[in-house]
Amino acid sequence: MTSSRVELSPGQDFGSGVELALAASNQLLNARNSPNYVAQVLQGVNAVATKIQRTSQPFTGITPAGLQGQVAAVELDQPLPDLTAALEELDELYLQDAVYFHDSRYAAHLNCPVVIPALVGEAILSAVNSSLDTWDQSAGATLIERRLIDWTAERIGLGPEADGVFTSGGSQSNFQALLMARNHAVARLRAESEENRGLRLPLLLDRLRIFTSADSHFSIQKSAAMLGLGFDAVIPVPTTPDHRMDPTALGAALAEAHEAGLIPLAVVATAGTTDFGAIDPLHEVSALAKAYEAWMHVDAAYGGGLLVSPRHGGLLNGIHLADSVTVDFHKTFFQPVSSSAVLVRDRAMLRHVTYYADYLNPESAAKAQIPNQVDKSIQTTRRFDALKLWLTLRTMGADAVGALFDEAIDLAARVGTLLDEDPDFELVAAPQLSTLVFRYRPTPGGIPLDEDLADRLNPAIRAAVFASGEAVVAGTTVHGRHHLKFTLLNAEAHLSDIQDIIELLRRTGAELLGTMTADQKIADQKDLSA
Ligand SMILES: Cc1ncc(COP(=O)(O)O)c(C=O)c1O
Repeated sequence: MTSSRVELSPGQDFGSGVELALAASNQLLNARNSPNYVAQVLQGVNAVATKIQRTSQPFTGITPAGLQGQVAAVELDQPLPDLTAALEELDELYLQDAVYFHDSRYAAHLNCPVVIPALVGEAILSAVNSSLDTWDQSAGATLIERRLIDWTAERIGLGPEADGVFTSGGSQSNFQALLMARNHAVARLRAESEENRGLRLPLLLDRLRIFTSADSHFSIQKSAAMLGLGFDAVIPVPTTPDHRMDPTALGAALAEAHEAGLIPLAVVATAGTTDFGAIDPLHEVSALAKAYEAWMHVDAAYGGGLLVSPRHGGLLNGIHLADSVTVDFHKTFFQPVSSSAVLVRDRAMLRHVTYYADYLNPESAAKAQIPNQVDKSIQTTRRFDALKLWLTLRTMGADAVGALFDEAIDLAARVGTLLDEDPDFELVAAPQLSTLVFRYRPTPGGIPLDEDLADRLNPAIRAAVFASGEAVVAGTTVHGRHHLKFTLLNAEAHLSDIQDIIELLRRTGAELLGTMTADQKIADQKDLSA
């Protein structure tokens, strides 16, 4: 039953604190306030929709200094009269100058345009506010998450004992996988000798090493540090010219470590590296990991979308051999941040993150088979992110999501051909998923621009284009040299959109080159006359 608004009776005086609480209670989501909830959320949603309709480029080019003063000037202890005023203020502080990933000239990082059913899921999950730690805070949400974990594990082919949990992102998924791998290795060390059995964990970490390609994501190093192993416990394995882990080099690195008395706790393969979209040779990596009794983790944060790809799914061949896998739904499943999962072949490994607390998840609950997801997670309170993927699959279907990624992969192939044939640009490698690493390096008079000059020029092009807001591209280095990068994840982007960006980069490059060479001439003349 919906009761009317709570108000003070005339003459009632409970002090200003009570009045304030009564007024504030009108902002609590409950039956009485549900019409207000609908109206306010619609106001917020409309503000975004209006902004998106009016946005004609991915960014305005605002600088931190340009916004800092405005944000600092907000008097947080003095609220505005209503949501309308707060949204107007937000428009100036944020919406107006945000970076918009739906724009077809956003081509920088692994951010995707998001699908609408997932946004409906986002609205529902935050309003109901289930917490996925225990059954008594989530009920059906737990079962939906579990079902999606099973579905993902099945798509990977991890087998009947597989399990996993949703996480906040690829970095957290990688961390949890390596935490399980580390503890698994430590358990083996303890089982090996009486002496080890008596040693506390820190004393057993010294010889443990993680092997991963030189092109893998930095969350592997960060995980090693957080696991008490140190950044330098990660042994980078060289790649072949296509930027995939070189299995011969991996074999050599493992043998060398073994000789030195070190223990390979894990080999991390990447299925879609951040820069080149390279997928490591999963069969070969698995065979080597097995030979050295190392855990095999596959970081498919980027390439995970291939699990639903109708046309490129074969690229993930061999992923089923992994002991654990990271999949980022907030990258190639077009989900809003955050939405990721870590999957594990053997559900028993999840015990490495289990700790029973009488106030939350007593062991008796586990024995009674009450599904408390906190027993599998490094988080406690946890969002029902799975709902977004659920509504996406239930309304669009998996193939449709995969088709969006396929479009981006196909677009990248066509852009690759364009860049390869363009004399002003150097493409480092043919695209493997949807990224392209290249640089502006024209060849005036048939001679390629000086390396050092190209090295200064490309970051300057990127910065100038970002400042214009007309396009957003990323940057990276290859063999120490600065390059530009496109990450394409927008199925709505046409070849002509990317051609526009290329022309913008060319124009900007030519202008900057003109200024740089003029500056250089002045500097040379000064040197001569000195
Ligand atoms: C290959 C790879 N792994 C892991 C991550 C980390 O994912 P997240 O940003 O969701 O933590 C990224 C991010 O781009 C990535 O490219």
